[in-house]
Amino acid sequence: MSQEEVSLEARLEEQEAFEPPESFVEQANVADPSIYEEFEENWPECWERAADLLSWEEEYDTVLEDGDAPFYEWFTGGELNASYNCLDRHVEDGAKNRAAIKWEGELGETRTYTYGELLNEVEAFAATLRDLGVEEDDVVTLYMPMIPELPVAMLACARIGAPHSVVFAGFSADALATRMNAADSEYLVTCDGYYRRGDALDHISKANEGLEGVEHEVSDVVVVDRLGDALSHSLGDNQHDYDELVEEHEGASVDPVSRDAEDMLFLMYTSGTTGEPKGVKHTTGGYLAYTAWTSHSVLDIKPEDTYWCSADIGWITGHSYIVYGPLALGTTTMMYEGTPDYPEKDRLWEIVEKNRVDVFYTAPTAIRAFMKWGSQYPEEHDLSSLRLLGTVGEPINPRAWKWYYKHIGDEECPIVDTWWQTETGGMMITTLPAINTMKPGSAGPPLPGISAKVVDAEGEEVSAGKAGYVTVDKPWPGMLRTLYKNDERFIEEYWDEYSDEEADEWVYFPEDGAKIDDDGYITILGRVDDVINVSGHRLGTMEIESAVVGVEGVAEAAVVGGDHDVKGEAVYVYAIPEDGYEGNDELGERVIEGVVDAIGPIARPEEVIFTPELPKTRSGKIMRRLLEDIASGNELGDTSTLRNPEVVDDIEEQVAGD
Ligand code: PRX
Repeated sequence: MSQEEVSLEARLEEQEAFEPPESFVEQANVADPSIYEEFEENWPECWERAADLLSWEEEYDTVLEDGDAPFYEWFTGGELNASYNCLDRHVEDGAKNRAAIKWEGELGETRTYTYGELLNEVEAFAATLRDLGVEEDDVVTLYMPMIPELPVAMLACARIGAPHSVVFAGFSADALATRMNAADSEYLVTCDGYYRRGDALDHISKANEGLEGVEHEVSDVVVVDRLGDALSHSLGDNQHDYDELVEEHEGASVDPVSRDAEDMLFLMYTSGTTGEPKGVKHTTGGYLAYTAWTSHSVLDIKPEDTYWCSADIGWITGHSYIVYGPLALGTTTMMYEGTPDYPEKDRLWEIVEKNRVDVFYTAPTAIRAFMKWGSQYPEEHDLSSLRLLGTVGEPINPRAWKWYYKHIGDEECPIVDTWWQTETGGMMITTLPAINTMKPGSAGPPLPGISAKVVDAEGEEVSAGKAGYVTVDKPWPGMLRTLYKNDERFIEEYWDEYSDEEADEWVYFPEDGAKIDDDGYITILGRVDDVINVSGHRLGTMEIESAVVGVEGVAEAAVVGGDHDVKGEAVYVYAIPEDGYEGNDELGERVIEGVVDAIGPIARPEEVIFTPELPKTRSGKIMRRLLEDIASGNELGDTSTLRNPEVVDDIEEQVAGD
């Protein structure tokens, strides 16, 4: 590094607050700070601003219906169609030839769908689904990787009013079966495979294995042929080739079905404290208005932009900020099939340069990997088209934030660190990029109209600097409406902790720890339940534990998250071998395989530690906190309350020895 660079690094290192550049402010969608007041004074009618970004077939009568809280309803009486809002209206407005989706495959092939072309394919596939017998409100499962047919299928479902349930392609066959069973889903759209690090990956076998675990009859399966000759596959009795069906229905005209604002747009399963994944239900009006509004105000998306969110559509980030929000605004949204380091570690920057990407949204885990690889990779490319950067999924440490700011944004792009969840539908706590000062490591204030607070165990707001829990004590349009077919669990999971049911005061509890500064900025500290956040992906420890104890030779197990410098958190398994089995490498390998088979490679344990006993309190509860500290290499707190303190040294020695 030159002298000049060294002093620049040192200055950045110390700087704690960053102002949005004037050039950004001048062009921003939302730049007037009075928006905070406007939303506060005019709540809940302020949310009409979000609804106004959409085209309604039938105007709504009421912004918020809270008579049956916490089963809130938004924009009641309104009718609309999400696919119409994401496609037809832009075509009608003259944007037929604007690129809607620009896709790049891992091997370098590209496909661009204009709004006109995307609408045609969505109509052809919507007609296909109808012909197969899909009716309004039937749940269609989409088990697909990052190929354009995934958003096509989502929008085709939306067009005919069939909620989709997307299952992340990296999830296992078991996970697919569990989700299809839970949603009684009789239709599946999947593909033969996709590319990962240059290899053709077989996906159809996993899908077929999953189908064997579905307890009801599956009517039809549509299979996209992504790999052509690279993977030969045969279709079963009720399986159809996507291309053939779409060709047959080419030119079909399918009117968008008018959906009630509160009708379900999609289901998305996410991990919770217990083993069963939770089916988060999102609606047509509130969700679409909220994702469009946050795409407009936080991501500053404009129709003429090329916008890129590098998440996978299999997670909520991809639903809200690759598909629905950006397309509702009529912009060009990018999709990339593969990994960021294939064939080289500059792949993403090459894509940014080639497509002149304006806004880039990614996860801290990716940024930490970029940092580790080094700044020479982004430096090889012209990234001057970038105007705004974003992150989501987990806390971002100030060092990674500053690296992103300097090496990707060239100190000219604001960064939005957006806190939200599958359940919230869209962003909740973040700076508005043209308005607020940025403080690396702190997400920022709650968005206008969002009443997020940091409270103690009793629900009292904590003073500045003290740790507490995030709560939200007013509803918002993008919120989940319930857990699919399980209203009781919805209340239990999110509302029981802090609400005063008798007083009809409802407080949403996201199960995240946080602290608040005296200027109202919120720093998220991470989950406080038994959920771990691996590379920005939410995994339930109970789900992993049940996979571990399902392995022959394991008697008992505890799974915790330990610090990891790239993934944020990694999965650590502590396991007691059954009598007659030895805790050796072979059993360790089988445990790892068992977890990958049950959940998917994202849950692959970092380490399996065998121990004759787990540290337990006198009342017999496993001391998870202690196991987390051991995994993270932290200093251990008081162990005197343990029933079996001697096991701690034993375990520590093993971990240190690896
Ligand atoms: O712990 C928070 C963390 O991710 C959780 C939500 O995970 P999921 O539903 O999978 O959605 C991820 C993408 C929205 C939260 O409870 N989280 C998300 N964003 C941030 C974050 N933690 C800190 N800072 C963030 N910006």
